[in-house]
Amino acid sequence: MDGGRRVLSNVIHSQVDLHQEFGGVVPELAARDHLERLPHLLDLALEQAGVQPADVDLLAVTRGPGLVGCLLVGMGVGLGLATAWAKPLSGVNHLWGHIYAAMLTRPDLEPPLLGLVVSGAHSDLVSMPEHGRFEVIGRTRDDAAGEAFDKAARMLGLGYPGGPALDRLARNGDARRQSLPKPSLPGLEFSFSGLKTALLYRLRDLGAEPGEQEKADLAAAFERSVVESLLDKLDQALSSEPVAEVVVAGGVAANTLLRRRAAEVVAGRARLTMPQLELCTDNAAMIAAAGFFTSTPRGEVGSRLRLPGGGAHYSTTVDPSLGWD
Ligand code: KG4
Ligand code: ZN
Repeated sequence: MDGGRRVLSNVIHSQVDLHQEFGGVVPELAARDHLERLPHLLDLALEQAGVQPADVDLLAVTRGPGLVGCLLVGMGVGLGLATAWAKPLSGVNHLWGHIYAAMLTRPDLEPPLLGLVVSGAHSDLVSMPEHGRFEVIGRTRDDAAGEAFDKAARMLGLGYPGGPALDRLARNGDARRQSLPKPSLPGLEFSFSGLKTALLYRLRDLGAEPGEQEKADLAAAFERSVVESLLDKLDQALSSEPVAEVVVAGGVAANTLLRRRAAEVVAGRARLTMPQLELCTDNAAMIAAAGFFTSTPRGEVGSRLRLPGGGAHYSTTVDPSLGWD
């Protein structure tokens, strides 16, 4: 990154092929693959950006939440580079990264903002009053939205990764033909496990192997219930605390229906920013952006420790279960 807004290179190695035959992410394989791929990816990132290690002012690495094996590999590489190159290292919160992805898409976007972060493990409504400060105002009681999509996709026989496959199938379906309940808890809490059970029972009632059209209709109905439930709470939060900027981010923000409906719900009340598709799902640029905005004198977060090589680092303790803190 050049500053916090301009991406010079954003190299992604997808592990989809590695995990596909198991129908989901295998943590041990994921961590080992990180270890094997990272050195080459780093070379590629520097080459594509056209920079030398000496040009680097700050390194950023995810410290959590996430799979502990992958976090440890990333942190090991981060600390190693920071020591070898004598550069400061910033340990970044993964969820913050998703919000900062929106800043890459919209250069004049600044807090205060209302954020909805929807990923494989989180469905959180957050209020962001300033850089590096987040207050969770709503979360899920059970499954995250991405997890719900992945489980529904598996029930519909769509394999891994489920979310994008369900999104594609839903485009051929009609949600009204297989209507499913829309979860609705009081306040700003989400819940998707009941909807998942409703889909399971509907599939059981349909018996044997449902037809292609039935599957597409069910995918559309499931998607509609998840999306409308997410947006009901966003709508409620925006009504009770009006704010000029709204961000919807995280892997599920790549969903076609969510993108269309979020624009309709927010229209005329605030400006909506959703990261471009490749910045919704996990990527390195969002972590670099979050590191830039939260580790520079703009708003120093955490303590600055010296490293043996003369570098420094901020909050670099691995925490797989980290919340928004
Ligand atoms: O943020 P992310 O890339 O990784 C985590 O931090 O979890 O989010 C991944 C999640 C997965 O559950 C995936 O199925 C979901 O985002 N996802 C989608 C779509 N693209 C990715 N869900 C629905 N529609 C999509 N187009
Ligand atoms: Zn993520």
